[in-house]
Amino acid sequence: MTTITRNLSLELVRVTEAAALMAGRWMGRGDKEAADGAAVDALRQVLDTIDMQGVVVIGEGQKDKAPMLYTGEEVGTGQGPEVDIAVDPVEGTRLVAQGMPNSIVIMAVAERGSLYGWQDIAYMEKIAVGPEAAGVIDIDAPVAVNLRRVADAKGVDISDLTVVILDRPRHEQLIADVREAGARMKLILDGDVAGGLMAAMPGTGIDLLMGIGGSPEAVITACALKCVGGDMQTRLWPRNDEERRIVEEQGLDTSKVWEIGDLVQSEDVFFVATGITDGELLRGVHYFADGATTHSLVMRERSGTVRYVESSHRLSKLREMSNIPFD
Ligand code: FBP
Repeated sequence: MTTITRNLSLELVRVTEAAALMAGRWMGRGDKEAADGAAVDALRQVLDTIDMQGVVVIGEGQKDKAPMLYTGEEVGTGQGPEVDIAVDPVEGTRLVAQGMPNSIVIMAVAERGSLYGWQDIAYMEKIAVGPEAAGVIDIDAPVAVNLRRVADAKGVDISDLTVVILDRPRHEQLIADVREAGARMKLILDGDVAGGLMAAMPGTGIDLLMGIGGSPEAVITACALKCVGGDMQTRLWPRNDEERRIVEEQGLDTSKVWEIGDLVQSEDVFFVATGITDGELLRGVHYFADGATTHSLVMRERSGTVRYVESSHRLSKLREMSNIPFD
């Protein structure tokens, strides 16, 4: 079997860059499907030039029927290592459509059979932190206890912590608990993968992600956190009677705590993200005459290397070289 080589990182960043270049044109134009569709088309085309036997384990659109790279789709040239792919061509489609911060293209790649591919239960409860607070979180403990432990691990007061939470009615109690405990909060419209990553990366001003978000997003976040030594705990959160029936039928345990290692069972994980709109994590796509710049994050679990890649693209040249209508 062909092994995954480190060069895959830079192949993968070309994929997310292409998707961001295409999706970035839709910033603020109020059409989230168009942004998603543009990213998916570009992503699929560049993915298919990479020497790998990839299977999409986590694709887009499970939850909202967006244009998608469907689960089970084979990508890559069909030569090279056998890998699982988890991808979100636009994480935060509304963020692009409304020109709001932190929409990103994300992709994780790991050995075949190592990524957990959630199909049926759309949401998970999550708590995520960076390496300094790894090992101290407990999803079963009260909010205030987790905040105290993270503050102690980081050598700060609870009032110094900033928690990122999706702004949803389902988080009313969580938000009240965080306020009661005295921490600061950043409520986001969308994008809890970016939220989880912000909690783990230095310089973002975010210390924890808490709350209920997408299950596929939990697996992708787990890949990213594994690369940087962060920590996350999750739990299935069935959202309606239909999902409660599935839980019953499949004998799923909604009290089971899923750790990063349960969601990603590989020591060879790659994670790549490119910014679409400017945010704490990455700058978005900036266009200029016949060109654009992109800002990406590339990480590999095995080496622990984290790279920020700034690229300048000449769109007319790219058009000559590919079928993607870079405009
Ligand atoms: P999209 O990538 O489909 O735009 O979803 C963004 C997102 O905010 C995720 O980051 C998050 O996990 C999920 O949606 C939350 O779901 P919901 O919007 O249904 O609360």
